Amino acid sequence: MRHSTIIGTGFYVPPQVVTNDDLSKLMDTSDAWIQERTGIKQRHMVEDGIGSADLAKIAAERALADAGLTAADIDLIIFATLSPDFFFPGSACILQKKMPGFGTIPALDIRQQCTGFVYAVAIADSFIRVGAYSKILVIGAEVHSVGLDYTTRGRDVAVLFGDGAGAVIMAPTENEAEGILGFALHAEGENYDKLWVPAPYGNIRGRVNQEMIERGELFPKMDGRAVFRHAVPRFCECINEVLGKTGRKIEEVDLFIPHQANDRITHAVAERMGLPNEKVVSNIARYANTTAATIPICIHESRQDGRLKKGSLLLCAAFGSGFTWASVLMRWTV
Ligand code: UT7
Repeated sequence: MRHSTIIGTGFYVPPQVVTNDDLSKLMDTSDAWIQERTGIKQRHMVEDGIGSADLAKIAAERALADAGLTAADIDLIIFATLSPDFFFPGSACILQKKMPGFGTIPALDIRQQCTGFVYAVAIADSFIRVGAYSKILVIGAEVHSVGLDYTTRGRDVAVLFGDGAGAVIMAPTENEAEGILGFALHAEGENYDKLWVPAPYGNIRGRVNQEMIERGELFPKMDGRAVFRHAVPRFCECINEVLGKTGRKIEEVDLFIPHQANDRITHAVAERMGLPNEKVVSNIARYANTTAATIPICIHESRQDGRLKKGSLLLCAAFGSGFTWASVLMRWTV
C-alpha cells in the first residue's frame, strides 16, 4: 500500500553561538544552573533581520540536494513553526517567495510548537497515502532569540531556546516494511496557558498596547514545573500508542529521537520506557530547544554520525505548548 518515506534531510543553524556564560552577563543566571537543570551549554542565534523562512531556505536547499531533487520537483510545502516571520501570511509562503523554483505549489503552515515536526510528518504521510501529493518538503524552523526576554524577569524561559531549522523530503513508497509505519497525535487545549505568548492578541482592538508591552506579554510565559510534570507521562503514552498501532516492541527500536526540551525529561522518558542511553539522541547541549526544528536537526545529525542508517527502526516523539504531544515510528530508508 502506498505510504511515505523520508528521502533527504538537511539542517541549518545561524553561525552566532551564545554560551550560558554570555547569558549570565545579561541576567541573573549561571552556566551551572542552566546545565544542571536542562543540559544546555549553548545555543545559536540569528542576526537581526533574519527570520524563520531564511533559516528554512538553507535547510530546504540542503535537504533537496541530499534527495537529488530541486524545488521544481516538490509539490507541497509544510512549514512547522511557532515563530513565523509575520502574523500572516505563513512562513511557507515567505519561503516560496525566497525560493521561486517552487512555483505555485500549495504552502501550508502548521502551529504545533515543539510537536510541529511530528504533526507535519503525519500530515505529509497522509497526503501521500491518498495520492494527493508525491514529493513533500517538511520543515521545522524557528527564530526564538528575537522574541525572548533576556533580563532576569525572563530568565526561566530565555535560557532554554535557540534558533535553527531542519528539513526533510518525503516521497511515496510501496514497500510496507519501510518508511512511516505509524504515528500518534494528541493535544489538550485545557493547558494552553502553561506555555504561551499572550500578545499580540487576536481578540483585542489594536492587538497590543503599551501596558501589555510593559507587562512583558510579547514574551513567552511558562509554568515550567507543570510542563515538566505533564511531559514525561505524555511522551510515554504516545510512544506506547504508536508501538501498539504498529505491532512493534520498544526493544525493536534502534534509535529514539525525543524533542529536546530538557535532558532531565529525555532521561526520565528513556528510563520509564527501558531505552538504553546508546539508543537515545541528545543534542540539547549545543542547540538548546529549537522547538519544531529540533527533531529534523537530530535526524540529520544522527545520519551524519552513523547512528541512523538504512534499516534502522527510528522512533521520534515530542511534547510541547498547546499542550500537544505526538510520536512517529519509521523504518529508515536512506
Ligand atoms: O519545549 C517546550 C516544553 N518545555 C519544557 O518541557 C520545559 C519543562 N520544564 C523544565 O524544563 C524545567 O521546569 C525548567 C528547566 C524550566 C526549570 O527547572 P526547575 O527545576 O523546574 O526549576 P524551577 O522552575 O522550579 O525554579 C527553581 C529556581 C527558582 O527559584 P526559587 O523560587 O527556588 O528561589 C527560579 O526562580 O530557579 C530559579 N530560576 C533560575 N535561576 C537561575 C529560574 N530560571 C532560572 C535561571 N537561572 N535561568
